[in-house]
Amino acid sequence: MTGHRILAGANSKLRVTPWRGDVTTAYLTPTRGRPSLAIIEQCLSELPGAGYDSAITAALTGVDQIPFLQSGFSVLERLHLLKRTLYDIPRLRVSNVELRRTRPAEQPAILAIDAASFPPFWRLDDSGLTDAIAATPSARLAVAVTRSHEATIVGYAITGRAGPRGYLQRLAVDPEAHRQGIGSALVADGLRWLRRWGAREITVNTQEDNGSALALYARLGFRMQPDGLAVLRRSLDGPGQ
Ligand SMILES: CC(C)(COP(=O)(O)OP(=O)(O)OC[C@H]1O[C@@H](n2cnc3c(N)ncnc32)[C@H](O)[C@@H]1OP(=O)(O)O)[C@@H](O)C(=O)NCCC(=O)NCCS
Repeated sequence: MTGHRILAGANSKLRVTPWRGDVTTAYLTPTRGRPSLAIIEQCLSELPGAGYDSAITAALTGVDQIPFLQSGFSVLERLHLLKRTLYDIPRLRVSNVELRRTRPAEQPAILAIDAASFPPFWRLDDSGLTDAIAATPSARLAVAVTRSHEATIVGYAITGRAGPRGYLQRLAVDPEAHRQGIGSALVADGLRWLRRWGAREITVNTQEDNGSALALYARLGFRMQPDGLAVLRRSLDGPGQ
């Protein structure tokens, strides 16, 4: 089971890929319906033979977590889920920074900002960035660039759209440039892009202890949803490891 694999049951599909270039960690994403216990157990029995020693899930709702918890997974990270409509979008500008769609040569600079912004396990590599962009039928990868002579990238955001629904997939600002309004301006740019293409709402999830992101989203009018999400993990040496 190397690379990309789909396990299909009667009413569900489970996609298996390496976790962001780590070929020992399988990343399990339900792509249709809620996987049955039988599919998850089949998947877990195949993973060690394919070189995996642990598995993690995509962010799952409480009810979608049930068959994974029954298969020996436990919570790795709890996430808050926040939403906002797209009726009133603030016009936010940062005087010395331009926001625009990225250009191909800028990928290394984007990944460097990501690496400076997230702990190693959650960082994006080339394939993770590609996956985040491909996670929805259309997406905007926007960068914040200084208007100085060097035109340095100081932040980026990935906003995705599936029909009327928008998703803020990723947001990061160079730690040297925090608290200048760049993160807020990138989010507002994504909101405008979504509205232009007919979306009605945007969803974002963020780790429960990410106070800076939660404060930013609250200020921009996102509302915390009653039920959060969780990423689950299981060692393949045995359940609950
Ligand atoms: C979250 C993040 C994108 C914010 O970027 P930023 O450019 O510093 O944000 P802004 O300057 O637009 O901040 C807007 C408001 O959010 C709140 N905020 C931002 N950072 C904060 C912090 N560290 N503590 C408290 N409030 C904070 C404040 O209300 C701030 O307004 P103020 O500066 O006038 O008080 C940035 O901290 C970051 O890249 N973090 C690491 C990656 C990350 O967590 N991404 C989000 C994952 S969902």
